[in-house]
Amino acid sequence: MKFFLNGEEREVNVDADTPLLWFIRDTLEMTGTKFGCGMGLCGACTVHLNGQAVRSCITPVSAVEGQQITTIEGLSDGESLHPVQSAWVKHNVPQCGYCQPGQIMSASALLAGNSNPSDDDIDVAMAGNVCRCGTYPRIKAAIKTAATELAYEAKKGGVNNG
Ligand code: FES
Repeated sequence: MKFFLNGEEREVNVDADTPLLWFIRDTLEMTGTKFGCGMGLCGACTVHLNGQAVRSCITPVSAVEGQQITTIEGLSDGESLHPVQSAWVKHNVPQCGYCQPGQIMSASALLAGNSNPSDDDIDVAMAGNVCRCGTYPRIKAAIKTAATELAYEAKKGGVNNG
């Protein structure tokens, strides 16, 4: 089977029930996506499946056949940071950093579908992403900054919102 990872077609040569996270990290050696709980409870392994945030540790590779997967490595266009990443830098969000790729993937999926999220929208979308360092206030502030930046870019006509 095959799927698309960050826009590139990938051949899958592991058992169909192998978690997508294992394939990404162990087979492809792309370690930006983190292993946290292995049970879909902490959000560290979050990637996009056709633009939606999913937990790659509980997603078998068989479920992504022919689909588009985006990891933290593919979020930006390679030239410049994605607006969510820029906002993370601006607000100095990470502490230990372990949860942050997953946080950014959930935040960018939220903003791709809701360009002006309320506090409640953010709370709901980010509820599955745990941060043991308690960076939640900075995460929320960064999401709001990214929303403003994405709105500005959309007005200008060019937008890269993952
Ligand atoms: Fe340490 Fe979130 S920054 S777990």
